[in-house]
Amino acid sequence: MESFVRFHDQHPPEAAGSLYEELLAGLSATPKHTSPKFFYDRRGSELFDAICRQPEYYPTRTEEAILRDAAPAIAEVAGRDATLIELGSGASRKVRLLLEALHPACYLGVDISRDFLLDSTRRLAMDYPWLEVHAACADFSRPMAWPEGLSGERPVAFFPGSSIGNFTPEEAEAFLEGLTALLPPGGGLLVGVDLIKDRAILDAAYNDAAGVTAAFNLNLLQRLRDEFAAEVEPRGFRHHAFYNEADSRIEMHLVSRNDQAIHVAGERIDFGQGESLHTENSYKYSVAGFRELAGRAGFEPRAHWTDPDGLFCIHYLERAA
Ligand code: AVI
Repeated sequence: MESFVRFHDQHPPEAAGSLYEELLAGLSATPKHTSPKFFYDRRGSELFDAICRQPEYYPTRTEEAILRDAAPAIAEVAGRDATLIELGSGASRKVRLLLEALHPACYLGVDISRDFLLDSTRRLAMDYPWLEVHAACADFSRPMAWPEGLSGERPVAFFPGSSIGNFTPEEAEAFLEGLTALLPPGGGLLVGVDLIKDRAILDAAYNDAAGVTAAFNLNLLQRLRDEFAAEVEPRGFRHHAFYNEADSRIEMHLVSRNDQAIHVAGERIDFGQGESLHTENSYKYSVAGFRELAGRAGFEPRAHWTDPDGLFCIHYLERAA
């Protein structure tokens, strides 16, 4: 089979306008907040990749170890010759741990970052010449449809990295419910979920000594300057991340170092000294808590795998009949 990528551009034409509106709505709210999706321009995606290599950031290496060990068991429940759809495919690295065991008929990478998506899926297609590779540039946090022309016996969605933790539990449930509309009964979802654990491990993971997570958080302000013509000085803010135990979530903030005004799309936004822009939540779940959430959304938990230290969990869920 030829090693090329079938590219499907699903970006709605009004995307840029609606991003501005979403951004301004969050910046004008109390407390101020932005969606984590604003992190991921090309530099943000590169910085996230670097976070995943930091010694303190355990989720990536732990999830990869689980996938490596459990690949044959995952293939047993998920079956071969599926249409494997990776949501937020990024560098398409983790899926490589599954491809030989799962042997899907076709792979579809879905990501909002177009250049990154194209580079990664092209590399995947070259390394796995037997695999039919598709790429869809889309915002999968909004309703979407699978593109036409995917081969495979049944869809199995793959949502690794605990990205589901960047939704609130209510949003996560609604997101899973939305996925049931895209999956026929018997369709599967393999999802990585970060587990509740000791706060010292969590705090360290989002405050790495090399400052990569801080750079990732602050890059949001650089992106506002580059893409949204914002007048804002990134040095006027500092990174702040901590575990909020009551809500089982890491919170990331950009805290204003002094009283200042920034301007976005002609709007003036005032920050007091110490006031924060809440840029991300990263929810952590117990195994049972996540199975219950998935059940409410219309999925049957079929199997799950964790590491020996109980840091991370991979669930296989099946769309209920
Ligand atoms: C993508 N997501 C699951 C990461 C997380 O851990 O919530 C994003 C991240 N933010 C800071 N470090 C990593």
